[in-house]
Amino acid sequence: MPFPDTFLWGGATSASQIEGAFDRDGRGMSTADVFPYHEKITDPRQSMLKAMTRAEVKAAMEDQTGFYPKRIGIDFYHHYEEDIALMAELGFTVYRMSISWSRIFPNGDDPIPNEAGLAFYDQVIDTCLSYGIAPLITLSHYDFPLALTLKQNGWLSRKTVDDFVRYASLLFERYKDKVKYWVTFNEFNIISLTPFISGGMLADQVADLEAAKHQAAHHQLLASSLAVAACHRIIPDAKIGGMIARFESYPETCAPEDSLLTIQNDQKNFAYADVMVKGSYPNYLLQTWAETGLTPVLAPEDVAILKEGCVDFLGFSYYMSGLSGTDKTTEKTAGNLGYTKKNPYLKTSEWGWQIDPVGLRVTLHKLYDRYGIPLFVLENGLGARDTVSADGEIEDTYRIAYLSAHLRELGKALDERVPVLGYTLWGWIDLISASTSEMSKRYGLVYVDQDDYGQGSQKRLKKKSFAWYQAVIASNGKSLEEAHT
Ligand code: BG6
Repeated sequence: MPFPDTFLWGGATSASQIEGAFDRDGRGMSTADVFPYHEKITDPRQSMLKAMTRAEVKAAMEDQTGFYPKRIGIDFYHHYEEDIALMAELGFTVYRMSISWSRIFPNGDDPIPNEAGLAFYDQVIDTCLSYGIAPLITLSHYDFPLALTLKQNGWLSRKTVDDFVRYASLLFERYKDKVKYWVTFNEFNIISLTPFISGGMLADQVADLEAAKHQAAHHQLLASSLAVAACHRIIPDAKIGGMIARFESYPETCAPEDSLLTIQNDQKNFAYADVMVKGSYPNYLLQTWAETGLTPVLAPEDVAILKEGCVDFLGFSYYMSGLSGTDKTTEKTAGNLGYTKKNPYLKTSEWGWQIDPVGLRVTLHKLYDRYGIPLFVLENGLGARDTVSADGEIEDTYRIAYLSAHLRELGKALDERVPVLGYTLWGWIDLISASTSEMSKRYGLVYVDQDDYGQGSQKRLKKKSFAWYQAVIASNGKSLEEAHT
C-alpha cells in the first residue's frame, strides 16, 4: 500500500471561481471580477492572459450589460454548508481553498479589516473542522484587490509587499489554532504570463511590461518569504508551501538541441520555485537578467529576506505535458495557459490538453531530486463537457479513467520513496474556468446546474466519479489497485 495513513485526500477550489457574492458584505472588487464571458472569447489570450489597460478595467467595472462569471461563481457564498457536507461525504481529509484578499481588506490596505468578510471564512473553516476536514489555505489565487491596482499598480509597487504581509499575518493570527496548511501564491510562475490577474498591473501604466513583470515577481517573492517567516513565527506547528504550475516537457527528438531547449524550458518553469525553496535567485535567472537588461531593483535587505523565508513544501498543479524542440513545423496543441507541440504518443482532452499520467510521476521525481522537500499535488483533473441524462445521471467514466491513471502513477512515485503530503483534485465541484471564464469546462465530481451565462438552478448533482473517489479515499488508494487488476 503506497499511500501512507497520513496522506491527505481532498479537493481544491479558488475563491474567485466559486464564491460569487462579489459585492456582498463589504467585499471590494478584484482582478478576477473584470473578465466577461462571451462565446467568442474562447482563447485564454483574450481573457485571463490579457494585459489590461486602465481604461479597460474602468470600463469593465462600470459595465452594466456584460456577464462577468467570476462575480457570481457557483454561489458557494450561500451554498457552503451544503458543499462542505458533500466534501465530508466524499471523505475529504483536506480542502484546499483560497481567501479573497478584497473580502478582508476591500481596498487591499484599509486601516481595519472587514469583519463581515472574516466572519464568512470563520464559518467555512469551522464547518470544515466540524467534519474533520483540514483547511489548506492559499493566500492569493488569481484575485488581487483592484483598488491596489488603480492606486499603486499592483505588485510593481514595493508597498504591496507590506500590504500583503499585513493581510497574511492577520489570517495567521485569526486562524492559528485552526489552519495548519498554507500556500502563499497560486502558480507563482504564471506571473510571467498574467501581468494583470496575478501581478495586478496595468499594461499602459508601465514603461516596459517585461521589466515590470520581473520587478513585480521580485516583490511577490519578498512577500511570499516574509509571509512564510510570519507563519513560522505565529503558527510554529504549521506547514507553509510555495506553488508552481508544472509544465512537464520532453525533448521532441534526440537531437542535442532539443535536450538543451528542454532544460531551458525547465529553468523557466522552476525559476521561482528555486527561489522559494532555496532562498536565492538561480544562476540562470541572473544570467537572463544580465542578457536582457531586465534586472529588477533589489534592496540591500532582500537577500536576507529571501533566505529567511524558505517554504516547508512545494505544491504544484499538473494537468498535461508538452514537448520542447527546435522544429518550427510541428503541429501545436493547447495546454494549460499556453500552447505546446503535439506528442503523437498522447491523447488530448476536449480542450486539446495532452493527457499524460506518467508525466505526473516524472514530475514528482524531478521535483524531489531538485528540491528534496515534501511535495503536494495541489491541482490535477480533467476539464470535460458533461451531459446529464433524462434521469439525472452523469456518467463521467472519462474523468474516472483520467484520475485513476494519475493516482496510480502518484502511488508508484510514493512507492519509489518520493514524499507527497497529499492530493487535492482540482475543481472537485464544477466551477468557473480560470482561463476563459466558461462553465462548460467541468472538472467536478459534483455537477452544478449552471451554464456559461450563469443560467440554471445551481442545484448540485453527484456524478459517477463521486462514488469512485469516495471509494478511493475510504480505501486509502487500495481501490485503485483493485480497479486496475
Ligand atoms: C490552474 C489554476 O492553472 O488551472 C486554476 O490554478 C484553474 O485556477 C485550473 O482553474 C484549470 O484551468 P482552467 O482554465 O481550465 O480553469
